[in-house]
This record gives sequence, C-alpha cells and structure tokens, in this order.
Amino acid sequence: MEKKKILLDCDPGHDDAVAIMLAAGAPSLELLGVTVESGNQTLEKTVRNTCRVLQWIGREDVPVYAGCDRPMVRDKLTAGDIHGETGLDGPVFPPLRKQPESEHAVSFLIRTLRAYEGDITVVTTGPMTNLAMALRLAPEIAEKIRRIVLMGGSCTNGNVSPAAEFNILADPEAAHVCFTAGRPLTMVGLDVTRRVLCTPEVVARMAALDTCASRLFVDLMGHFCRTQKAIFGWAGGPLHDPVTIAYLIDPAVLTTRPMNAQIDLSRGPSYGRTNCDAYDYLGLPATADVAVDIDAERFWDLVEEGLARYGKEAQA
Ligand code: RIB
Ligand code: CA
Repeated sequence: MEKKKILLDCDPGHDDAVAIMLAAGAPSLELLGVTVESGNQTLEKTVRNTCRVLQWIGREDVPVYAGCDRPMVRDKLTAGDIHGETGLDGPVFPPLRKQPESEHAVSFLIRTLRAYEGDITVVTTGPMTNLAMALRLAPEIAEKIRRIVLMGGSCTNGNVSPAAEFNILADPEAAHVCFTAGRPLTMVGLDVTRRVLCTPEVVARMAALDTCASRLFVDLMGHFCRTQKAIFGWAGGPLHDPVTIAYLIDPAVLTTRPMNAQIDLSRGPSYGRTNCDAYDYLGLPATADVAVDIDAERFWDLVEEGLARYGKEAQA
C-alpha cells in the first residue's frame, strides 16, 4: 500500500511530542519533514523540543525546520502553564545532537508542496502561522495540498477563553487564511480530543510496553496530566494532537460532518472562536469536515501500536 505523504507542523508541547512519535513510526505514513512555530512555548524552545523527541526515538533523519516566532497579527500567546518553562517539562533528555535545517519552515513548505503532485496532507497541531504564511507567500501551493488536518477549534467552548481553543486563538488570522484556502480540511477540535483523557490506567497500559517511546510517553504524561488536572480538574490530560495522526492512520477513528466553519476575527470576547454551523442556519457552503465523535477505544489501540513499534533503548 502506498504511504500517505504528510508534513507535520507543530509546537511541542507534550501532546505534539506524542503526535511526532506516532507519525514518525507509522508504516502507512511518510513523514517528509516537521515544521515548527511558537505556540506552547517560544520558537527556540519548540524547535529544541522537536529535535529532542526525534533524536530520542532514533529518527534524526527527519528534517526539522524552524518557522514563525510570532503570530501574523496579534500578540504572541504561549502555554507555559500547561507545558512548563521548557515547553516539554518532565522528561530528562540526553545532550542534544540534532539541529534544525537552515531553511525557514515557510520556505520548506512552499518548496516541498511545489515539488510534489498534490498528494501531500498537511497536519497542523499548533497555531497555523507557518501554513498561512506559506499560502500568502505562494498562493498557488493551495492546489498542491491534498488535505489540511488540524488539531484546533471547538464547536462549543474553548480552553483558553470561553470562546476559543488555544491553536486558533494563538493566531486567528492564520487559521482564517487556512480555513479559506479552498482545500479539503478536517477540523479535529476539543469536541473529540477532550474525549481521550490520558488517565493513570492509560499511562500504566503504555508503560508496560517498555520501549523508548513508551518511556518518553510516561514521562511526558507525568507533567502534562498534572497541569491539566490542576487547571481543569480532569482525571487525565486530553491527548489532543495525536488524534490527528490516528485519523490519518485510520480515518474510521473519527466521525466527521461537513459544516460551514468560520474563524471569528472580531477583537472581542469571541476572538478566535471557530463558528461551526452544525445545523446549517446560514445556508453557506461547508468549509470543513468537523470531527463530532471519536472511537476512543480504537484511538488508544492506535497509540499503543505506535509506541510499541520502537526499540527498547533510546538514542543517547
Ligand atoms: O488546545 C490544545 C492545543 O494547544 C494542542 O495542540 C496543544 O499542544 C496546544 O498547542
Ligand atoms: Ca500543539
């Protein structure tokens, strides 16, 4: 079976780190590169974290590209309260050997999309700044994108304001550019990611795998679940970003519905809200396939399969 070509754009971030591990190890996916922006932490930290994870799992061959260090229009928003000062608090990593490429992420996205024949899926698990800037710099690449799959948004309430989810609120204008690019788009929002909480039972299940990836998962979740519980009071942290990768491996893990979804750019309390017209009140064309349900059991099986694929020893 031909591998699905993907570009992963992220802001590691604990859940981004798990998404990277699933994407890099999936037999059905070809990870062409990882682009990074500021989001959960500043760009310097999110790039370093991306390189740390790839080195740890023995995938230094996957190129990493540093991108935008701030949103397109608004002021910078980070999430140190969840991900810590380093952006990946918890695990202890060996000295870092892997470095990002010298090319800017936006340049890499444009160059790569131009070079392929429209068979690339772009996955974003952070603010959509890099992809939006690439679309503004080279609008013709839109037709070369097979589908945009993003972790972001919500049909109901947000997680950093009553109205908005972090990845969208961190750069609403960028999300608007991507949602209006006219390409097939799957929105994996809080509606489904909040249904896969990484409880202590899940952590114990993954710990039993005893691979380098499962050990990193356990160390990551130790911090991530603690901060999520402190803020939201949940039994486990919602494993947001890996849902996008699980969906690419097995689309049946999600139920999606086509809807008109628009980004609220008004500078009031609804700034960054994804207005999803679930009941077609407006009669406007659908702009997104919005995830409305998740097969949580299948999701955790996919996570377990992904972490089990790696060797016992990390790359020192
Ligand atoms: O709202 C959750 C999203 O914001 C996740 O991608 C998390 O990593 C943060 O970026
Ligand atoms: Ca993220």
